[in-house]
Parts: sequence; structure tokens; C-alpha cells
Amino acid sequence: MDRIPEGRGRGAQKPRETATRIVSAGRDPAAQHGFVNTPIYRGSTVLYPTAQDFLARKARYTYGTKGTPTTESLEIAWSELSGAAGTVLVPSGLAAISLALLACLKSGDHLLVSDSVYRPTRNLCDTMLRRFGVETSYYDPLVGADIAQLFKPNTRAVFTEAPGSLSFEMQDIPAIAAVAHARDAIVLMDNTWATPLFFPPHARGVDIAIEAGTKYLSGHSDLLLGMVSANERCWKDLRATFDATAFCAGPEDVFLGLRGLRTMRVRLMHHQQSALAVAKWLAARPEVARVLHPALESDPGHAIWKRDFAGASGLFSIVLKPMPEAAAHAFVNALTLYGIGASWGGFESLAIPFDCAAFRTATKWNPGGPCVRFHIGLEDVGDLTADLERGFAAMRQAVDAAA
Ligand SMILES: Cc1ncc(COP(=O)(O)O)c(C=O)c1O
Repeated sequence: MDRIPEGRGRGAQKPRETATRIVSAGRDPAAQHGFVNTPIYRGSTVLYPTAQDFLARKARYTYGTKGTPTTESLEIAWSELSGAAGTVLVPSGLAAISLALLACLKSGDHLLVSDSVYRPTRNLCDTMLRRFGVETSYYDPLVGADIAQLFKPNTRAVFTEAPGSLSFEMQDIPAIAAVAHARDAIVLMDNTWATPLFFPPHARGVDIAIEAGTKYLSGHSDLLLGMVSANERCWKDLRATFDATAFCAGPEDVFLGLRGLRTMRVRLMHHQQSALAVAKWLAARPEVARVLHPALESDPGHAIWKRDFAGASGLFSIVLKPMPEAAAHAFVNALTLYGIGASWGGFESLAIPFDCAAFRTATKWNPGGPCVRFHIGLEDVGDLTADLERGFAAMRQAVDAAA
């Protein structure tokens, strides 16, 4: 045991580079009998040495819902990577969105939400939050500092997501945060696309950041998990809301999250590189009108992305030239390496058709052709583009059949 330095990882001086920090953050082998990883602690009851200790809740861990060494490892690591005062772990990304909003809203408040937000976030606002007396207004994701005009005296929070779900509009988070903070409002962000590795949320003005750990933290499409991190301003309220709801994640999922964390940076770099290669390949195709990917110079959000982000992940969309929807479906159906499914961030590629027109309220979604969202996985890029060729051949056949 004495060959294992005391307190390495936790509390030790932090190494500087992210690649190093992501390996060591939240780990304390000395506290785990020398084993590299914090194991799965399963438990409800925590036993106290005396009645007095029990009444005073005098213990390192007090109850299963409030935290274990396993959950604490991921919370510490995520806070360190996010530059947060604290993090809580919840059972899914949507649970993270729910908890974050519950932590900062009350009846009578007004909430501003980007029109390009993940659709279930809208559902939460339009149903449950409305029922609890919170009014939501949707805003153009490109609004920037002009969001000031949408504030009401009771506007309590601004919900952002960059880039937008499906449609990839880039939001000017620092400009929105400056306006919100001048009015004492809280800024929330769904940072699932970039992760804190590519967008340090709290350093850019976000008070409460949400991550669907289901995506890149997991990396293997085999778990559901959410993280909510907060800066000093909002941490106390976030933690109090977590304790009040006991909205806690399961120990196996947290363990898998910790396991995924150690390789998340390496995977993200690979997703980024392959997605950019496929996006550029698609941009040169005659069937494609536009590629919606903020890391491409042609993208309207590129300047903001370049200023604020350190990278891009594996998710982007395309707008096809005008053609029957059936032809776009034939394209997706003909792909053999791209699964047709919603939850992304795993090692595998995905492709889904989408149309935002039905649910946009502050902006019009009229891209001029059918749209497809891709997640580019860890497969060989040549194989992925060859598969897309197959899809385009099926698309041409469907177009010809419809003519
Ligand atoms: C941007 C974004 N946020 C949140 C979520 C929700 O994550 P979960 O599936 O874990 O609820 C998703 C899921 O697709 C997402 O795409």
C-alpha cells in the first residue's frame, strides 16, 4: 500500500493538460486498496457508529441517494473538467434538463428557451412547467445580444443549446450570458454536443450546464445518464434540488460513465476528425444543398464556433436538394453502416431523416429540401463514404421512379 502515493487524483495538484486530467480526475486508488478505479458501491442504508452520530448525520456518506464513493468520483471528475463548483448525476439527459430547470424556476417565473432546443425540452416546458405556473417564450437561436428585447420583469432564466438540436444553429452564449446576468437571470445550457472538452460552459458564462452522459460519456450506446454542473452562484440551489428530489443515477450506470470518461477525449477527437471528413465529402455531392456543421468554414455559425469552441463532435446534418421525401427515405434505408436511431454518441454511425417545421414557434424551418442528421462513429471513413454512395444510388432510383 505505501507504494501508492496518498491522495493522488483527488485533492492533489491538478496536472495542466486535459488529456492528463481526464485520466486522473476523481480517482483515488489509495482509498480503493490500490485498485485503479473506484468500484461500484451499491447501497441504501449507511450505518452510523452511534445514535448521536445518526441523529447528527455525522458520516462521510449519509444515505444511498445522496452519494457514494462511486458517484462522488464522477461528480468530482466532471466538475473538474467543466470548471464547475459542483455536479450532480441523474438517470438520463432529459432528467438533467428537468432537474436544472426545477433548480432555478418557481411559479410566476418567465423562461426564455431557444427555438432550436432538443424537442423533449420543449415538451417539458409546454406541459409540466406550464402546469406549475412557469411561462415559456421561445427565441430565435441567432438572437445574440438582442435577447435583451425579450426579457420581461419576471424572466428568471434563459435556456440555450449550441449548436441547435438537428438544425445546428450556433448560439452566441457569452453575448446571451452578458445580457442575462445584467438582469440577474440564470443561464442554462444543454452542452451535450460539445461536452466540456470542446466547450467549457462555466468559463463562457453558463450558470448551469447539462450533459446527456448517455451520449459521449457512455460512448457505447449502452447506458442512460445525465450530469448537471453549476458555478458557485447556482451550486447550492442545484444541490438542494437534487437532495429534495433524490433524482439519483444508478450505481452501475455511474460506473460505466466513469469507465467511458477515461477514453472520452480520444473518442471525441476521432469522431471529430471522421465527421469533418464525411461532412466535407457530403458538401461536394451534387445531391446535397447544404451541410449544417459549425466547424465547416461555409457554415453561418463558423465564426462563433471558432471563437468559443475547442472542437466539434460527430453529429451534423445535411439539407438535400429539393426531392420527394420518399427519395430521402430511400437514401437512409439503403445505408448499411448507419443505424436508424435517435440516441447518438456511441461508437456506431447513425442517420435519421428529420423536419423541424412542425414544432418551431419563434422561427420558420424551411430549408428547401429534406434533411438527414448523421452521427459519425468510429468506423473507417472510406467505408462510411462508400456506404453513402450506395444510399445516393438508391436515392436516384427513387427520384427516377417518382418522375
Ligand atoms: C442535445 C440532447 N440533450 C439531451 C438529450 C437527452 O438525453 P437522454 O436520452 O439521456 O435523456 C438528448 C438525447 O438525444 C440530446 O440529443
